[in-house]
Amino acid sequence: MKASLWTQDLGKSFRLHLQGGIRIPVLEHVDFAVAPGECVALSGPSGAGKSTLMRCLYGNYGAEAGRIHLMHDGAAVELTGADARAMREIRRQTLGYVSQFLRVIPRIGALDIVAEPLIARGAAPELARTRAESLLLQLNLPRRLHHLPPATFSGGEQQRVNLARGFAPGYPILLLDEPTASLDAANREVVIALIAEAKAAGTAIIGIFHDVEVRDRVADRLFEVLPIQDAA
Ligand SMILES: Nc1ncnc2c1ncn2[C@@H]1O[C@H](COP(=O)(O)OP(=O)(O)OP(=O)(O)O)[C@@H](O)[C@H]1O
Ligand SMILES: [Mg+2]
Repeated sequence: MKASLWTQDLGKSFRLHLQGGIRIPVLEHVDFAVAPGECVALSGPSGAGKSTLMRCLYGNYGAEAGRIHLMHDGAAVELTGADARAMREIRRQTLGYVSQFLRVIPRIGALDIVAEPLIARGAAPELARTRAESLLLQLNLPRRLHHLPPATFSGGEQQRVNLARGFAPGYPILLLDEPTASLDAANREVVIALIAEAKAAGTAIIGIFHDVEVRDRVADRLFEVLPIQDAA
């Protein structure tokens, strides 16, 4: 099957300007692909570059070598060459990202935070709010919290708002960074079910799962991110 997202010879290093400009290579020659309906888990030791790869795939970090391509609006586009406007459009329609921590927007209630990306894709506000509400309830977020801004929510409650926001629109490609890290066993099961549902609907998922049990249950395969060896 045709891939939803793929990289060619992707490379990324960091330059530490405060340390005399030394260069720290993190990713080299990464060739990676994920197909519709497939979940690929990034594996590898701490510090290998899993989160860095995910941030490159979302366009938060520019790649310094190689390319990232994805299917967007029926055509292959190169993420590495996308300008800010194209990037916004890709994120609105195609590419979702559930970061490890919710970026709290002051004064906006949980339900509106979840409904917002749906409305941005053209859903009627009432429908978007109904879908947001049902996802929040599925993730066991009590109704009394739905209209409160999540700033004062617990870590697990914020993560569930973040997950609802990521799953609500049904993006064709979804990036998940530690989606179950702050969750109890019951909510972990809900997330496993949401991932299975998204895969069945054709979403391509790239995830980082430190919880091996979750990883084994959702991932179709692992992609190992290898640490770069220090030069001798
Ligand atoms: N903004 C940055 N500036 C400099 N170095 C960075 C930056 N971000 C990450 N690094 C370095 O890049 C390497 C990879 O980091 P990354 O966070 O991608 O690892 P990871 O595989 O996600 O690890 P973990 O499993 O612990 O989350 C690390 O050595 C880290 O110190
Ligand atoms: Mg990480």
